[in-house]
Amino acid sequence: MSLMKLDFSNMMESRIGARGISIRAIEEMSDRIEEIEEKLRIDRAEGRLQFLNLPYNHKQVEEILSIASEEEVSKYENFLLIGIGGSSWGSVALHTALCHPYHNLLPAAMRGGRPRFFVLDNCDPDETAGLIDILDMEKTLINVVSKSGATPEPMANFVKWHSLMKRAIGSEYPGHFVITTDEGDGVLKQIAEREGIRCLAIPKGVGGRFSVLSPAGLFPAAVLGIDIKELLYGAQYMDKVCKEGDIWHNPAYIFAALEYLSMEKGYNISVLMPYSRKLRHFANWYMQLWAESLGKERTRDDKIVNTGSTPLKAIGATDQHSLLQLFNEGPFDKTITFIRVERYGNEIELPRSEIGDFQGYNELEYFGGHTLEELIKTEQFATQAALTSHKRPNKTIILPEISAFNLGGLMFFFEVVTMVMGELLNVNAFDQPGVEEGKKLTYALMGREGFEGFEGVSKERTGTDEGETFVIEV
Ligand code: PA5
Repeated sequence: MSLMKLDFSNMMESRIGARGISIRAIEEMSDRIEEIEEKLRIDRAEGRLQFLNLPYNHKQVEEILSIASEEEVSKYENFLLIGIGGSSWGSVALHTALCHPYHNLLPAAMRGGRPRFFVLDNCDPDETAGLIDILDMEKTLINVVSKSGATPEPMANFVKWHSLMKRAIGSEYPGHFVITTDEGDGVLKQIAEREGIRCLAIPKGVGGRFSVLSPAGLFPAAVLGIDIKELLYGAQYMDKVCKEGDIWHNPAYIFAALEYLSMEKGYNISVLMPYSRKLRHFANWYMQLWAESLGKERTRDDKIVNTGSTPLKAIGATDQHSLLQLFNEGPFDKTITFIRVERYGNEIELPRSEIGDFQGYNELEYFGGHTLEELIKTEQFATQAALTSHKRPNKTIILPEISAFNLGGLMFFFEVVTMVMGELLNVNAFDQPGVEEGKKLTYALMGREGFEGFEGVSKERTGTDEGETFVIEV
């Protein structure tokens, strides 16, 4: 059984005419791709692409599984993840894709003794207050994930939940925390050591949005009963696939090349449209990966380019009744990537006998003998056909099923695509100066020591308050 299939026929000139990509254009990229391949091979060998090695970190897997054993975690009713961006989206995506859609509502036995899952990826006081209302501290395990240990939102929540737990549990509180942070000597690691909190290391050189296959994503997955070894096998398999040198046989190269060539034609929005609610947060994970990695002011050689393509999530079939009108008839600025699932976990029959009650109603009768699986797959096919007839470039990733193996492979695939896309755009896909700037500004405004004079910013002056002010209050 294959891990996935990529059908890019509808991106091509032969299907959608001049708006599509020609075989020649791809052939002409072969040399560029070869250079990129050689560069990445050297970067990897010299240790600059650590995320590519995550699928092979067997020692860490054993450490994670010992902390997240069924016996250990079945003591808890709740598992709270505190983290943001690359430190939360991967876990959220895995949970939504691979656990029961109503995981938190199931009785403990039907969750396999695994805790309910909650996430704080914001500093919204109403959300934190809501969780304080419902979580019983004695039955809660908290995983604080922050590579830097300095991001304001998770650190503020950490401070709050640390004090709540200490007050509720007393001296046993360290046992209710697991910290996941950079393997260096950051502040969270120091706190973990000082307080006897278990600490998992994110290997050096692995950035937030490329960390889902590190303890940042693997520990929460293991706590929730997801088979993390299968995730890693999928990633290992995809790693081999993505080493194929020929652009026509390497799905990551061809995906990146198609997106890049489409950008040159003015397609600046890259839509990911899975036909599965289980993949809705996978699409959010992809949006963060794509946006933060590729949206850059400068090239590697410091030329101002303000580049990037805007990722957009759409969920089939729901967004057929929202975004699809725009995709079909709006500006020619989007490429659409469908994710089609060949076999869902359930079929849901629409039996003829029950349909019998609706005889004479054309709108309902035709469902007799069909399944919801058939309907959603038909809708995906119909949407793809409609887009193609409107000359809208689209491609389809076909997943045999949603499994840990396939998800691990798919995440690794998108990470490689993003890295290759960074090379094609000649930007550093692994930094995020635009995000760091916002963090520093927050530190300055919140009074963190050492940031007082950050670019002339103070409580009184934000740097954006020069010139006239235009406000309407009603
Ligand atoms: O991808 C990234 O690097 C960012 O989105 C980070 O994950 C995010 O800013 C959180 O950072 P940290 O894990 O250091 O708290």
